[in-house]
Amino acid sequence: MRTILVLNAKGGSGKTTVATNLAGYFANEGAKVALVDLDPQGSSLDWLRARAADRPKISAVEGFTKGIRVPRNTEVVIMDAPSRTHDKHLSALVRRAQTIVLPIVPSPIDIRAAQRFLGELRGLRNVIKTDVKMATVANRVREGTLIANELEDYLYELKLPSGRKFPFMTVLRSSANYLRAAERGLSIFEFAPVATAADREYWNPLTRWLKSARSLPGN
Ligand SMILES: Nc1ncnc2c1ncn2[C@@H]1O[C@H](COP(=O)(O)OP(=O)(O)OP(=O)(O)O)[C@@H](O)[C@H]1O
Ligand SMILES: [Mg+2]
Repeated sequence: MRTILVLNAKGGSGKTTVATNLAGYFANEGAKVALVDLDPQGSSLDWLRARAADRPKISAVEGFTKGIRVPRNTEVVIMDAPSRTHDKHLSALVRRAQTIVLPIVPSPIDIRAAQRFLGELRGLRNVIKTDVKMATVANRVREGTLIANELEDYLYELKLPSGRKFPFMTVLRSSANYLRAAERGLSIFEFAPVATAADREYWNPLTRWLKSARSLPGN
């Protein structure tokens, strides 16, 4: 079973957007997907409630009051983390994941918060035994803006304690398609291709990585 955690302590960085779109992506690929909402705000569960029954099925799992139980035969588990996840809660979540995707918005406040959070995540490796694979994604990027370029440079330069590069997967554009998809329980992969072709293209490096062994522990 593939377990992917979408995580960033900063509110509004795009965790739910990335989690729901990844769930839609894998469901459309024919995988049995469970979307675990770890946030009492319940935005991922709201998204699933809005989803039409004739769409590829995604199992809803409420993961903020009880333990996480996904249906048997689940192939891909996408976990949507709440903001302000730190310390014990953070290590408990990280233990459950093979792969972590970190969406970061290109604003000075978000970048500084992300720097601290990435430091916290790196520090966990001294506390818990984990070989979790992590990568960042820049989200809500308005192309051509100076701050977006700064974020890209920063994300490209990030290093792991081993000195290896911290993988930066892609840039997701700020696009009304995400808002339309969110209110209808859809992913951008479920619209007519012409409407979202430009946005989909930006997902390719991330989905390719998630489907490859490179995003699995031990590789
Ligand atoms: N690439 C994007 N383009 C346009 N709007 C976006 C994009 N990504 C996210 N949004 C919008 O920004 C808002 C915050 O995004 P989202 O809910 O995914 O963040 P979050 O990290 O899950 O927030 P929280 O910390 O509250 O759980 C939402 O209204 C969402 O629709
Ligand atoms: Mg959210």
